[in-house]
Amino acid sequence: MFDLVLRNANLADGRSGLDIAVADGRIAAIGRGIEARGREEVDATGRLVCPPFVDPHFHMDATLSLGLPRMNRSGTLLEGIALWGELKPLLTVEAMVERALRYCDLAVSRGLLFIRSHVDVSDPTLRTAEAMIAVREAVKPYIELQLVAFPQDGYYRSAGAVDLLARALDMGLDLVGGIPHFERTMADGAASLEALCRIAAERGLPVDIHCDETDDPLSRHIETLCAETVRFGLQGRVAGSHLTSMHSMDNYYASKLIALIAESGVDAIANPLINITLQGRHDTYPKRRGMTRVPELMAAGVNVAYGHDCVMDPWYALGSGDMLEVASMAAHVTQMTSREGLRTAFEAVTTNGARAMRIEGYGIAEGASADLVLLQARDPIEAVRLKAARLLVVKGGRILARAEPRVSRLDLPGRPGLVDEASYAPREEL
Ligand code: FE2
Repeated sequence: MFDLVLRNANLADGRSGLDIAVADGRIAAIGRGIEARGREEVDATGRLVCPPFVDPHFHMDATLSLGLPRMNRSGTLLEGIALWGELKPLLTVEAMVERALRYCDLAVSRGLLFIRSHVDVSDPTLRTAEAMIAVREAVKPYIELQLVAFPQDGYYRSAGAVDLLARALDMGLDLVGGIPHFERTMADGAASLEALCRIAAERGLPVDIHCDETDDPLSRHIETLCAETVRFGLQGRVAGSHLTSMHSMDNYYASKLIALIAESGVDAIANPLINITLQGRHDTYPKRRGMTRVPELMAAGVNVAYGHDCVMDPWYALGSGDMLEVASMAAHVTQMTSREGLRTAFEAVTTNGARAMRIEGYGIAEGASADLVLLQARDPIEAVRLKAARLLVVKGGRILARAEPRVSRLDLPGRPGLVDEASYAPREEL
């Protein structure tokens, strides 16, 4: 007798008609027609079972603070940073923890169980770090939350940031962050990357840098990040987040740069919802999309993952913790709308994110932790198209969330009465 058996499921790799049996928190067996019963049986016929979604770039200390103390009128990154600066003195640990836990509830309902959050460590009180460490502990049974020590106001530009970042790491934050394009000069930005990579090497920590989040084609800090990664032997544990300046770069230079990123083993984390919203704000027409060069990076062998970045905070008034919405936006902005391109969008919010966050044992496999999501979709493409309902969210064999399928009952003369939104697969897949 198993604890839980999902019957007749599809997997993201195209296999179908499989039973998935769970015992003692692990996937005990995957196969056709498993005879032993489960204490709980779930009919997954024709529906996709995938590992939990992964968000490798988020700001949990700012989430759900929209409107505090006012709204971002220009919609720019820089007003967002200024607005966050107005809010910081008003923040309390209790309110931040409460908002973050509410966001984590939402994340669980969306099947999002792995999150890397940048924590602003610019404020001398380090309240943000204290609050996020408390949240990391509180959600540990169901969400793996990684915390980046992020000098939002600049590592060299903001007084005391050098000391504050070290103190935040001493408190137990997990990664070294940075924001070179926000330093006073390009030279300061480059120097900050040298210092931050040195800290990571000395402390044995990974690195995740807000890098070149600008439309300025001459913002080339990713080049320095790659060089410092190689110099300090940090290959495989460094991520460059955003990289939006690459959108606007000269094509010849970009072709050299992409090879350099691949060579250095630096992961690229794009944030489609935020990039399409914040970039191009200084343009008239045509307006740049401002997202990094995803297909070219992927073709060069760079691991590209997508992050949500913001939900209802000084930078972004929308969002709902839905990584399928992130994947959908990415597919549009990158124009990766072929069948293969759409499958790639799904991978960028699952397996690629897991690789960027260095999550061990991620995936649906015998012996792996029973972490899985049942979707109201038959395959990854339909999941992205529909931002499909999460019918079941399971962590370590325990069911964390359930939802009913989204089905509408129509009242139309002479037409069938029910619409199941997941019944409109393209002919090739029927
Ligand atoms: Fe960010």
